[in-house]
Amino acid sequence: MEDSASTKLLDWYDTHARTLPWRSPPGVQRPFDRNWPYRVWLSEVMLQQTTVAAVIPYFETFIRRWPDVEALASAPEEDVMAAWAGLGYYSRARNLVACAREVAAKGGFPETEAELLQLPGLGAYTAAAVAAIAFGQRAVVVDANVERVVARLFAIAEPLPAARKRIRECADQITPDTRSGDFAQAMMDLGATICTSRDPKCLLCPLTGNCAARAGGDPASFPVKAPKKARPERHGTAYWIVQGREVWLVRRPGKGMLGGMRSLPDDSWSARKNGHGTAPIAGAWRSGGVVQHGFTHFSLHLSVALYDGQTPLSALDDADGEWWPLDRLDDAGLPTVFAKAARLALAQLV
Ligand code: ADE
Ligand code: SF4
Repeated sequence: MEDSASTKLLDWYDTHARTLPWRSPPGVQRPFDRNWPYRVWLSEVMLQQTTVAAVIPYFETFIRRWPDVEALASAPEEDVMAAWAGLGYYSRARNLVACAREVAAKGGFPETEAELLQLPGLGAYTAAAVAAIAFGQRAVVVDANVERVVARLFAIAEPLPAARKRIRECADQITPDTRSGDFAQAMMDLGATICTSRDPKCLLCPLTGNCAARAGGDPASFPVKAPKKARPERHGTAYWIVQGREVWLVRRPGKGMLGGMRSLPDDSWSARKNGHGTAPIAGAWRSGGVVQHGFTHFSLHLSVALYDGQTPLSALDDADGEWWPLDRLDDAGLPTVFAKAARLALAQLV
């Protein structure tokens, strides 16, 4: 009998799995290691919307600083937010702390997909990934790589995002009852290294014989995508106020865009509207140039205004912010868009 797709893929994974800091080798479960689910969970939260290469150094820093879920649970939220800076999608960091606290209070991670789904910040993807990879449970794990591979194997002609339901059913069909964690990671590795988005290397693929898109001759045309709406462009201003060797930083309100992160003061731009353009204090300002930053649903044209004024700086309210030493700016945990603005401003410091 011909081997099933999952058998061929697992055989391939046994020799081709990427070695990654949060992974155990193919075929190895780690029931003896009570920190294993913590490592799997942390990596999967980081890997949503962020590439493996970008995640590795953050994962290693987090594990060194907070080696188990109890350590992360007792960390101040601000420290975790600052350590997350640069990874993007900052609500993940806030949920991370909330989830760690809940898990530590329970005495450990629950093992089923349904219970995992109840934890803060765990959506369908993360709950399935942790159940399968950390606990060896059968679960259907679909991320963007898996989506692409499945759409090709089954030559799904329906466009994304509507095709997600069908893709999920097809993924379910080929997910094995055992080693479903390895199977999921094998699909991810296949998608990342062989069944790549622009240039699928079908000659190297263990699934060529099972692939409808390959048989049809144009695998790169899958998954079919609905035409994209253009991202709107928003305009805003960030304000750079220096006194001596310190710069004025604020803490953003808890919810909403970059909520809870430290940042430069700005004029309240958001995904939905432009900033109001009014500076936080009166006085003379000059232009420090512009940075451009892409968010998921809009792109931001952020002007940087440099304070040149004489107004007594006591006009700034200590309750809203703090003076931060310029030589420790890297430790402030600024989100990428504000780190760019700060770099631009610093380049003009005389
Ligand atoms: N992307 C998301 N989860 C992953 C994993 N466990 N291994 C590789 N890439 C991933
Ligand atoms: Fe992807 Fe080609 Fe393999 Fe099909 S045969 S899964 S298109 S690499």
